[in-house]
Amino acid sequence: MTPLHFFLLLLLSSAALISAAAATASTTAYPSIPGTDSTTDCGLSGGDENPVPIRREVYGNGKIFDISHRYTVDMPSWESKDGVGQFLWLPKSMKNGSLANNSEMKLPTHTGTHLDAPGHVIDRYFDAGFDVDTLDLEVLNGPALLIDVPRDKNITAEVMESLKIPKGVRRVLFRTLNTDRRLMFKKEFDTSYVGFMKDGAEWLVKHTDIKLIGIDYLSVAAFDDLIPSHLVLLEGRDIILVEGLKLDVVQPGIYSVHCLPLRLLGAEGSPTRCILIK
Ligand SMILES: *[C@@H]1O[C@H](CO)[C@@H](O)[C@H](O)[C@H]1NC(C)=O
Ligand SMILES: *[C@@H]1O[C@H](CO)[C@@H](O)[C@H](O)[C@H]1NC(C)=O
Ligand SMILES: *[C@@H]1O[C@H](CO)[C@@H](O)[C@H](O)[C@H]1NC(C)=O
Repeated sequence: MTPLHFFLLLLLSSAALISAAAATASTTAYPSIPGTDSTTDCGLSGGDENPVPIRREVYGNGKIFDISHRYTVDMPSWESKDGVGQFLWLPKSMKNGSLANNSEMKLPTHTGTHLDAPGHVIDRYFDAGFDVDTLDLEVLNGPALLIDVPRDKNITAEVMESLKIPKGVRRVLFRTLNTDRRLMFKKEFDTSYVGFMKDGAEWLVKHTDIKLIGIDYLSVAAFDDLIPSHLVLLEGRDIILVEGLKLDVVQPGIYSVHCLPLRLLGAEGSPTRCILIK
């Protein structure tokens, strides 16, 4: 079993989780998701009989931003034309006589907003157990800089130098052309996304104190330098890569970032919820 084929199987037992997981179409194995028709932030309550859930991107009067993507059947999946596809089932449902609704999901661990552990591309680290459970929560939570990068290039050494990120900055979320192109909202995987070229990754390791790198498509590394860039960034085991971030509704600036992956023992990747607090 290769790391990329490591699948996550989880049993979800709460109705709240069911309604939070948006599937766009009803299937025989899974009913339509209530409340997913409304795309606005200001859902209206339908009264006590038919309450309507509110789905939002911003909480706390503009203080808290959700920078994770909703998991949907149509979200892009690595090198696939067809998106993630069905990942949620309802083996036990009240409609069929069960006491409660219990969903089940099956999802590649590098789906949607997720992060990479060193074992992702370095097999000896995988074997030694450097999985997502070993990632440093202190790195994943703290002051972070959200910056825009030039839209006409991948992230090269020259681009990194031009960004003039001060020493001491340890967490940086890079907003790129990927956000403008809304690539995370497109079903078909697109290899032309912007990411780190090997020399950009080397520059970051050598000249900055960055330990958390966030980016707005499925890989921190540009497709043309996929493995070389990952190797440069993960070799030291002190940098955490957060991929597939949703950076469209938030302004560049300084925030407090909070990412909490699942404690998947043995997994080199995990879906993660990430938020920014102003
Ligand atoms: C209920 O059970 C029937 C028959 O096994 C099945 O066809 C249907 O999909 C189930 N519905 C739900 C919501 O689980
Ligand atoms: C349980 O699932 C059914 C679909 O089978 C849905 O209509 C119902 O609202 C769900 N109940 C709860 C408590 O979520
Ligand atoms: C970034 O690199 C990819 C290949 O990895 C390429 O297809 C794309 O055009 C590049 N983007 C820019 C803005 O240069």
